[in-house]
Amino acid sequence: MFSLSLLGLYFLCALSIPTSYAFHLPPLRRVSGSKCSPFWTTFPASAVANAGSGSNSRAPFVGITPPTSYKATGNGLQMFLDRPKWEVTTANGVNDFVGEGSTLNSTFTMLYGRVTWVLSTDAVPGVITAAIFIADKFLGDEIDLEFLGSDPTHWQTNVFAPAPEDTTPLYGVLSSIEDIPQSRNDRRGTITEPHAYTIDWNADRIIWSIDGQPVRQLTPGKALAVIIYALRYSKDLLPGIVEQTGINGALHYPKDPMRIQLGIWDASTPIGTAEWAGGPINWQKVTKRITATIHSITVEC
Ligand SMILES: *[C@@H]1O[C@H](CO)[C@@H](O)[C@H](O)[C@H]1NC(C)=O
Repeated sequence: MFSLSLLGLYFLCALSIPTSYAFHLPPLRRVSGSKCSPFWTTFPASAVANAGSGSNSRAPFVGITPPTSYKATGNGLQMFLDRPKWEVTTANGVNDFVGEGSTLNSTFTMLYGRVTWVLSTDAVPGVITAAIFIADKFLGDEIDLEFLGSDPTHWQTNVFAPAPEDTTPLYGVLSSIEDIPQSRNDRRGTITEPHAYTIDWNADRIIWSIDGQPVRQLTPGKALAVIIYALRYSKDLLPGIVEQTGINGALHYPKDPMRIQLGIWDASTPIGTAEWAGGPINWQKVTKRITATIHSITVEC
């Protein structure tokens, strides 16, 4: 029964994902101790409950920002960033008002699993689009995909797993910038065309992939685990070094159950954020609603 329904899910995915977005990741090794349910959506209206429905909702996603800030079309989830209602003044590298963005949470959490987002977003400098795993506790674990409108030929990956040993948050320490490859429909290789971005997370390693190609892998930092991993998966070993999360004598490896959070936001202030984002947004140049689209989400366990 179980394998039949998985097969069904596989065919559903194979049939419904346009070939231009198709991704071919290796089969998953089921991890003991994982808490994860396979899931797939292209965001029909029923997939998103509006803010306030909270945990009563049976929808897999819930809006945190108002219902006007997103639209579940059945052909993807559109998330909007609108210009501020007031006239914006730019001074000293920041805007005095920020536009309203869009944020949604999954109502489910997962401990380990592989999630693929097919995503595209507008290339407006100062705008950040994010698709992340995030734990519920304050300053908890996070595994991120971030897209900077100012740098449309790249995407950023990041991890936060604060340890008691840290005296300051390790912003940017475990982050990395990756290329967007060309594809049949995206000869320039940019965030404005749909690509399949994957986070594959288990107790041994995190692997980020784009369009089925692994580009980065991070291990907790135990030498033994790295050696075992290398022996078992050597033929799949990624180019470059295997990064580890051991810093200040503590591991910074995510191990809490996490939600999926989706968002688009205005990074036009404060100055450090605006600089990182290539902002602030120049609203004089923005001619339409700034939109990020999550064409589909696939959770494999
Ligand atoms: C969304 O997720 C964050 C991070 O887990 C959590 O702090 C927040 O309470 C969630 N909000 C809703 C409405 O689910």
